[in-house]
Amino acid sequence: MLGLLRPSGHCQLAPHQAIRQLRELGYRAEMQPGISADACLWADLGEDPMDSGCVQMEASQFLFYQQQIDTSAYLVLWQISIAGDHTLKRLDSDRDALALLVQKLGQWYSPEHQVILYEAADLPIWQPRLERVPIAELVNATLNQITTLVIPPQSSKQPDTTMLDKLGVPAEHPLRQLQ
Ligand SMILES: C[S@@+](CC[C@H](N)C(=O)[O-])C[C@H]1O[C@@H](n2cnc3c(N)ncnc32)[C@H](O)[C@@H]1O
Repeated sequence: MLGLLRPSGHCQLAPHQAIRQLRELGYRAEMQPGISADACLWADLGEDPMDSGCVQMEASQFLFYQQQIDTSAYLVLWQISIAGDHTLKRLDSDRDALALLVQKLGQWYSPEHQVILYEAADLPIWQPRLERVPIAELVNATLNQITTLVIPPQSSKQPDTTMLDKLGVPAEHPLRQLQ
């Protein structure tokens, strides 16, 4: 899911690279599934990402590339603490880069829209962090290396009436209502 930006500008998935390199060296290597922060997030949030939909991307990739954001779905930005780092050397957040992130998010979201700073508990005896702040306050927030930014939907889903007509969905069906 997460990528590293190489000097060539290509995004490489670190685990895939590691597997390829190990195989080239003659080792047996394969990817195994695990419990990711993503899985912990939906459990801790008590939300179903398939309900409104969810888009996830690495925060720097969100900044580096032109994006089309659907504000009726969740937007999850990974590695928020190093958003905007093109050097692959930063470990701490950069206020200027965060200000640019807030500015870019402003294309779709109001500054008051509440977002969630999420940190899954690393140990069963710990509590997760689910801190809600307005987008505008992101520049002042405490962002750690394990912080993931969760942006809940800001708008309702609009029914695709043309498609509903083609599918024969009756006029009084709940799908015809704004969600
Ligand atoms: C290199 S990625 C590793 C992701 C890891 N493979 C996973 O799926 O949990 C690092 C990013 O994952 C997210 N992350 C890692 N640990 C986390 C945690 N305990 N809670 C929330 N997000 C976490 C953060 O966005 C962090 O910047």
